[in-house]
Amino acid sequence: MARLSVLVLVLLANTLTNAFNGDSFELECPDECDCHYFRINWVTDCSESNLTEVPYDELSMSVYILDLNGNNITTLKTFPADIKMRRLQIANNRLTHVDRDSFRGLEFLIDVDLSGNNISNIDPEAFLDSRGLLNVELQDNPISVVDGPFLVSSTLQFLDISNCNLSSINPQFFDNITSLTTVDLSNNPLVTLESGTFDILTSLETLKLNDCKLTSLAENIFTALVNLKFLELAGNQLTNMDWPELLGKLIRLEYLNLRKTGITSLSEDTFSNCTNLVSLILADNQLRDLDVAATLGSSVDHLELLDLSNCKIRGPIAGDAFANATRLRTLYLSGNPLFAPDLKEALEPLPKLEKLFLSNCGLRNLPDNFNVFDNLQELDISYNPLVNVFTKLLAPLNKLEYLNMGYSNLSYIGPDSFSKMTSMKRLVLSGNDLLSLEAGLFGNLTQLTTLELEFCGLKRPLYANAFFKNLTYMDLREIRLGGNPLVIPTTGPLFPKQLSQITIMDLSNCNITSLNRDAFKNTENITDLNLGSNRLISKEDSLQFLERLHQLEKINLSNNNLTTIDPQVFINNPKLHSLNLVGNPFICDCKIAEMWDWANMIKGNLDVLIGAKSAEKDIVVKGNKKKKHLYCHYNETQLRNLTIPLNKTVPGRRPFMKPRGLTFANRTWAKYVRESGCEPVVKILRPVALKSDLFDTERPLSTAALILSGIALVFGLSTLLMTVRLLRRRNATEVDTEQIRKER
Ligand SMILES: *[C@@H]1O[C@H](CO)[C@@H](O)[C@H](O)[C@H]1NC(C)=O
Ligand SMILES: *[C@@H]1O[C@H](CO)[C@@H](O)[C@H](O)[C@H]1NC(C)=O
Ligand SMILES: *[C@@H]1O[C@H](CO)[C@@H](O)[C@H](O)[C@H]1NC(C)=O
Ligand SMILES: *[C@@H]1O[C@H](CO)[C@@H](O)[C@H](O)[C@H]1NC(C)=O
Ligand SMILES: *[C@@H]1O[C@H](CO)[C@@H](O)[C@H](O)[C@H]1NC(C)=O
Ligand SMILES: *[C@@H]1O[C@H](CO)[C@@H](O)[C@H](O)[C@H]1NC(C)=O
Ligand SMILES: *[C@@H]1O[C@H](CO)[C@@H](O)[C@H](O)[C@H]1NC(C)=O
Ligand SMILES: *[C@@H]1O[C@H](CO)[C@@H](O)[C@H](O)[C@H]1NC(C)=O
Ligand SMILES: *[C@@H]1O[C@H](CO)[C@@H](O)[C@H](O)[C@H]1NC(C)=O
Ligand SMILES: *[C@@H]1O[C@H](CO)[C@@H](O)[C@H](O)[C@H]1NC(C)=O
Ligand SMILES: *[C@@H]1O[C@H](CO)[C@@H](O)[C@H](O)[C@H]1NC(C)=O
Ligand SMILES: *[C@@H]1O[C@H](CO)[C@@H](O)[C@H](O)[C@H]1NC(C)=O
Repeated sequence: MARLSVLVLVLLANTLTNAFNGDSFELECPDECDCHYFRINWVTDCSESNLTEVPYDELSMSVYILDLNGNNITTLKTFPADIKMRRLQIANNRLTHVDRDSFRGLEFLIDVDLSGNNISNIDPEAFLDSRGLLNVELQDNPISVVDGPFLVSSTLQFLDISNCNLSSINPQFFDNITSLTTVDLSNNPLVTLESGTFDILTSLETLKLNDCKLTSLAENIFTALVNLKFLELAGNQLTNMDWPELLGKLIRLEYLNLRKTGITSLSEDTFSNCTNLVSLILADNQLRDLDVAATLGSSVDHLELLDLSNCKIRGPIAGDAFANATRLRTLYLSGNPLFAPDLKEALEPLPKLEKLFLSNCGLRNLPDNFNVFDNLQELDISYNPLVNVFTKLLAPLNKLEYLNMGYSNLSYIGPDSFSKMTSMKRLVLSGNDLLSLEAGLFGNLTQLTTLELEFCGLKRPLYANAFFKNLTYMDLREIRLGGNPLVIPTTGPLFPKQLSQITIMDLSNCNITSLNRDAFKNTENITDLNLGSNRLISKEDSLQFLERLHQLEKINLSNNNLTTIDPQVFINNPKLHSLNLVGNPFICDCKIAEMWDWANMIKGNLDVLIGAKSAEKDIVVKGNKKKKHLYCHYNETQLRNLTIPLNKTVPGRRPFMKPRGLTFANRTWAKYVRESGCEPVVKILRPVALKSDLFDTERPLSTAALILSGIALVFGLSTLLMTVRLLRRRNATEVDTEQIRKER
């Protein structure tokens, strides 16, 4: 009886450990690919696998998302008749044409990404069988000439044909895709557009025509687009355009981007019919003599956002420039050479302003009427050659929540500069050579949540005396110190006690070679730690500082100098759910398989290891571009002596079926783990993550939680059992068990 129940438990254990390993309930998966479920959908990820053709006969009929991005595929044949694919991604391959048969029979297809190929020809009827098609991405292909209708699809809503070398749009181009709501034609050398081009697209809401070398447009080109809300014409040369005619019918327009369109002047009635305009971007035009008041005339009073950055506006800006812009909340004047006194006058009528951007305006001084801006919440005065002493003019801004004084040539900030800014939430002082910080400088910033001090030449992390000694800064959650050449003390904590509530800490790019085990003694509640781009190495105690960080959820160790990593180092970080190890010179060894099993079995989710497989965002976001994988490399000796165990079954891992060539020393972790045949060694006995997540919640336990905790318990047990079994096996084979006993 007892034996029987043990057997049952062992069976259960196996099923469960397999269940937690992404590869179970397995549907068909091509040998070179990684497959997994995303929610309940089968994802077949063959991206960046050096494929030269689509593995048609190895695909599961249930494949939902097929990712073939970044391969060497040159032609498409026909997919199996019964495949239920919803999304197909073949971006960044070497396709040259798309035939009538390429997507034949794909009835369920919704979304196709063919961007970044070498496609010059597309059969307009290629998608005829896909009766639910919504999205087609063809950007970055040399399509150049299209005669007649471009595509036939009555459902297509989103079409991206930007950067396709199209030099003209023929009159029938859109005839059979009339449901389009969003079209991106940016980056095609169109030069001009004939009248009638868009007349059939009456559902269109978003049109992007950025960087199309446009020098002229038929004046009635947008006349039929009565539903257009969002129009981008940035980066063209429309100097002599009759803007009032062109925009006259766009009464629904809410967003208009005319950045860098060669505009030198705008007549007074330019926007007079665009009465719904909320955001207007005129940045990067030479509007030397723009009469802001006259031009924005009657439409100005609906405007909430106005961007006049880099417009070479020749001061002084008229005192009444914004006189009627009563709804204006956000104003960009960055990149215009401004003088404090003019600015003072022009801004005077805008007491309701909430966000003001004055970056890179050559300001040495600041206007002295900040006291009128009762509502100002965000102020950006970065990249101005400020003279230290004027920073005190900011003092009246006691509602300010965001202040950016980055890269402003400051070497000294007076101790009282921020003393009245008690609403401040985010303060940016990055890029100033602040050799030291005044005592009490941040003392009164009791609401501060984020402090950015990147690239400030700081050698010591943060002195205690910049804060009041008697206070704990309860809201201060985030400190960014990236890019400072920190000298890390060999003993003791990096940060003072006042900062004990910090949860997000950025220490990337700080020339750190090691951190002592007490480094975060005063800041033990850190949940998100960025140590990317430092020089941490794989020494015995180099990650010991992790012991104290019981709340740690995310850690970035990318681009360091780690050659190997043991899951054991994360034993005190039960809440860890994101670990970035990309860009380290890992050597291919069985520790990698251990990390893999740790993520799968202990964490219950391979996504914990960034780059181990395609992440949720790679799947959800459109236009999945190349992603960075987790790699290891074999050294020469290993590689020469390497034989891959074909069909070797390791519980929960898919074996290799076909012999493979072995010329390349770099492996993704996924492939290495499969080909190595390393035994699954589960050394960490406590699946704390699952249990604590469930029991730490303050809500009363729901039935679901109870069931889950049941599963967690069984799961814990199964891990234990598995370890016991392994222990036995190890004993039998006289492998060193000393270490394992220690770890228990
Ligand atoms: C495609 O093939 C070429 C040579 O055949 C090779 O240099 C290149 O690395 C391959 N690209 C990919 C993404 O595998
Ligand atoms: C890709 O495969 C081709 C041969 O099919 C080979 O010549 C090339 O070196 C491979 N590239 C990589 C990066 O594996
Ligand atoms: C394409 O649109 C044109 C004009 O609306 C129509 O005459 C033609 O039948 C359509 N073609 C297809 C294949 O639907
Ligand atoms: C502006 O709107 C009015 C009334 O809606 C219309 O009569 C006029 O033609 C429009 N202006 C332009 C330039 O289209
Ligand atoms: C502001 O609006 C009023 C009334 O609509 C108008 O008389 C005045 O000229 C406008 N001021 C500016 C600077 O446009
Ligand atoms: C800090 O703020 C309080 C009230 O907000 C004020 O009384 C005090 O003077 C400020 N401290 C300094 C050093 O300015
Ligand atoms: C903390 O000390 C500062 C001066 O160092 C003083 O202004 C402030 O009132 C003190 N705050 C509390 C809460 O004791
Ligand atoms: C980084 O640290 C090393 C010593 O570990 C030091 O020699 C070097 O100057 C530092 N680099 C910078 C930019 O401070
Ligand atoms: C960490 O957070 C917990 C709970 O919020 C708190 O009890 C503890 O004091 C904090 N630790 C430090 C060092 O402030
Ligand atoms: C990485 O570590 C090795 C020793 O493990 C050392 O030789 C090498 O210089 C380090 N590289 C960098 C960029 O710090
Ligand atoms: C290559 O790896 C093997 C096994 O991991 C190791 O014994 C050997 O020293 C390594 N050789 C070099 C040159 O690093
Ligand atoms: C190569 O592998 C064989 C067994 O697989 C082993 O006996 C031999 O020592 C290895 N050679 C090297 C140089 O590692």
